[in-house]
Amino acid sequence: MHLPDLVKARKRTNDEVKKVQYQLDKKYRNIGKGKTYYVKTYGCQMNEHDSENICGILESMGYVKNEIMENADLIILNTCSIRENAHNKAFGMLGRLKHLKEEKKDVVIGLCGCMAQEEVVVDEILNKYKHVNFIFGTHNLYDLPKLLDEHKKKTNIEVFSCEGDLIEGLPVRRDSSFKAYINIIYGCDKFCTYCIVPYTRGKQRSRLMEDILHEVEELKNDGYQEVTLLGQNVNAYGKDLGLGYDLSDLLIKVAETKIPRVRFITSHPWDFTDKMIDVIKNYPNIMPYVHLPLQSGSDKVLKLMGRRYTSSEYKELFDKLKRIPNIAITTDIIVGFPGETKEDFDKTIEMVNYCKYDSAFTFIYSPRVGTPAAKLYENDTTSQEEKEQRLYELNNLINEYSLFNNSKLLHTTQKVLVEGLSNKDEEVYGYTETNKLVNFKGNQDLIGKIVKVKIIDAKSFSLDGELVE
Ligand code: 5AD
Ligand code: SF4
Repeated sequence: MHLPDLVKARKRTNDEVKKVQYQLDKKYRNIGKGKTYYVKTYGCQMNEHDSENICGILESMGYVKNEIMENADLIILNTCSIRENAHNKAFGMLGRLKHLKEEKKDVVIGLCGCMAQEEVVVDEILNKYKHVNFIFGTHNLYDLPKLLDEHKKKTNIEVFSCEGDLIEGLPVRRDSSFKAYINIIYGCDKFCTYCIVPYTRGKQRSRLMEDILHEVEELKNDGYQEVTLLGQNVNAYGKDLGLGYDLSDLLIKVAETKIPRVRFITSHPWDFTDKMIDVIKNYPNIMPYVHLPLQSGSDKVLKLMGRRYTSSEYKELFDKLKRIPNIAITTDIIVGFPGETKEDFDKTIEMVNYCKYDSAFTFIYSPRVGTPAAKLYENDTTSQEEKEQRLYELNNLINEYSLFNNSKLLHTTQKVLVEGLSNKDEEVYGYTETNKLVNFKGNQDLIGKIVKVKIIDAKSFSLDGELVE
């Protein structure tokens, strides 16, 4: 039994990161035979991809996917701790599962993901949610077979708060047959003061370029059209390896595989180099789309957040990126950070007016236990109502600019990777190179293909188009 420890999780050492090759022990191979599983995922793309690995591990043990949670023999919740409401959703689900377990005693329930890395959460589960059979953390997905083998003997908790190893070779069951996530860097060492991620995901550690390229080649050979390179801060890729390559070198190599679409998220402005900008500009299969979190437009708040850039440095980078033809730039913004005054918020509005983002994810600051900003929050005097008002004002502005940018695409022809059927009859949806959602008339046969679509209507959140024959 290993319990989580956020204080320990904060530590960073110079110890070399261990690369561990995963292999399923033969004795676990048939544990899932004749049984079904259901995995519920909360949070970011990193979690979605972890769930694809969890599904891969379970299927290698004989489990079969069940689309209906209530009918599954095994239920795993892959949780997120970025904000309070993510916590609440997972606890709400645990409440539902309590009832299910009363009716169906044999169902096995596991919890993993970022919430599992927090001792406050694990304490609460041990006290109030005794129907959970096992808990594992973000660093040890590979322990799942062992936990499933042992859960009948005791409630097992295996959560490591070490900096994290680099695990290669985990089985994967991908949700899509044409677009794929690829982890390139795990963890984060930025320690922005509001953020729990550096504690729950551990030290920044890059995968070797050869392992990533091997994965891209395999996906390309399997007919995949798009890969998204994933990391909390992909722009730090390679720095920890000391092998002389960085994200720009990796992007070049991935682009040279000729896979049709290459994306990458998320970028921290601090680590963005001119070479990376050139590479995005020069390779047509690197998509002209950058997610560049601003968080705040006030230098005072940026400093309190520990973001390492000023609003003018951000603008300078933004302007350079905007020189890439047809690029779309999106962002993340937090309002109501402790100490944010109306004047600070107005500076965020000023920045949004300057950048005119294609879209943005906006949040009210949510205190996370154990982070420095949570202490500032204790003396915060801004009311919740005021914060909601700021969010409302910000969202209205963001939506105006989304519409403004989308309208520029009217009557143009865009390449769209078709992802599925829309809710409307005989319509499909897909995404442009700049990651904008497009709906248009079409049938099932288009799914997984890149097609040309003429844009005929623009809204804030989507575009309507017509297939170009
Ligand atoms: N409260 C509100 N938003 C947060 N984010 C991260 N931590 C918090 C928090 N404690 C937002 C940031 C980040 C995005 C993934 O989530 O904007 O970029
Ligand atoms: Fe959190 Fe900052 Fe790291 Fe992003 S860069 S994961 S916001 S600490």
